[in-house]
Amino acid sequence: MTEAVQGAGRIVFQAHELRDRVLALGREISDAYGPEDRLLVLGVLKGSFVFMADLVRAIDVPLQVDFLIASSYGDEQVSSGDPKLLYDPGSSLQGRAVLLVEDIVDSGSTLRTLLSTLRERRPASLEVCVLLHKSAAGVEPPPRWVGFDAPNEFLVGYGLDHAEDFRQLPYIASL
Ligand code: PRP
Repeated sequence: MTEAVQGAGRIVFQAHELRDRVLALGREISDAYGPEDRLLVLGVLKGSFVFMADLVRAIDVPLQVDFLIASSYGDEQVSSGDPKLLYDPGSSLQGRAVLLVEDIVDSGSTLRTLLSTLRERRPASLEVCVLLHKSAAGVEPPPRWVGFDAPNEFLVGYGLDHAEDFRQLPYIASL
């Protein structure tokens, strides 16, 4: 890693901790679904792309993958509070078991907005798996699967960015 990338700051979750937790999440999710569910794993880009790639490879029931793009931070460290759906795959969710995959729930505004949008499409079930969850998020009901409770700091790495930097870090660090 170059100096600039190492400049991300204090490591909060090491690569091996992420790997172990993602494997455990994959086992739990595999136990919760069967082939008849026609599981659709829906990743929220861009932040979830690394987590999503590792998570689906840890799930051993048949599934399909799709993505949507939501953005609320731009280059800022504080949410705009008005998440924008920049890309919506438009694939039919009706009657599907949908698992929404997020890298982080911070203020909770992205997840609240996405859940209300996706519920209108009448999936058979709609669950959430989030790698990092901040306690202040206050999303009801809380995500079914949570990787880690996250400290109230600005986190980067393993897909998470600051102004598009640091996404490639194999660990998660605090700026
Ligand atoms: C980040 C993250 C979540 C959202 C969480 O996305 O990936 O989607 O913010 O924050 P919230 O709970 O306060 O809404 P961002 O808008 O930074 O876009 P990105 O995924 O492209 O990095």
